[in-house]
Amino acid sequence: MRRLLIAGNWKMHKSVDESVELAGILKSSLIDIVELDILICPTYTALHPVANILKGSNIALGAQNMHQEDSGAFTGEISADMLISAGASHVILGHSERRHVFGETDQTISLKLKKALDKGLTPVFCIGELLEERESGKMDQVLIRQLSSAYEGLTKAQALKTIVAYEPVWAIGTGVTATPDQAQSAHAFVRNWFRKTFDVDLAERIRILYGGSVKPGNIADLEEKPDVDGGLIGGASLKADSFTQIIENAIKKEV
Ligand code: 13P
Repeated sequence: MRRLLIAGNWKMHKSVDESVELAGILKSSLIDIVELDILICPTYTALHPVANILKGSNIALGAQNMHQEDSGAFTGEISADMLISAGASHVILGHSERRHVFGETDQTISLKLKKALDKGLTPVFCIGELLEERESGKMDQVLIRQLSSAYEGLTKAQALKTIVAYEPVWAIGTGVTATPDQAQSAHAFVRNWFRKTFDVDLAERIRILYGGSVKPGNIADLEEKPDVDGGLIGGASLKADSFTQIIENAIKKEV
């Protein structure tokens, strides 16, 4: 049985003070939640103060990206060790904004994934197709390319430490959510890829989150689908009430 994970990607939002404030509210309002896992991913500058606030809570802390090298002359970049020293246990990698706005390639993302695993960070590895790729029937091809590049050379034990997030690019920040059936069909496809590439055991255990305009009103129908193991939430994770409501609605559906 896979445990649900609800993760908030705060993207480039909130000052340090605002981040600490939101994390503090979430800590107290979600303290009794035991039914699922919770993760928040603030900006780099807020990681350490938010880590301090989250001590003793059931909320894990993640970063939104990292560089693949340990250290060096990489102005403006941040390493896995730095994230860990700031208190992060997770890192989002290959987000569609990194791929499509900042030009990150499958190759770079694959190096980042391996580095994160080597360092003991849990990667939340994002995949997803553009609208034109879906409409021209290339969705499967795109997902296979993104998955194959990232997982090539990983052992089963390493792959099991990753979390996948399927985020169709056309659904991110647009208000257009994939229908539960669209999400289920992509998730089943991804799980089947893991079955063929690794084995049934891994495919049954790896968590596949859905991301793209998840709101309190649509999480329950998405979660009801057998291959959807949680959500990676952007806009709706920026407010305590909507993020909390998403978590509560996801739990209700589980029971
Ligand atoms: P929205 O929930 O704002 O569509 O963002 C989704 C996302 O990109 C999460 O990583």
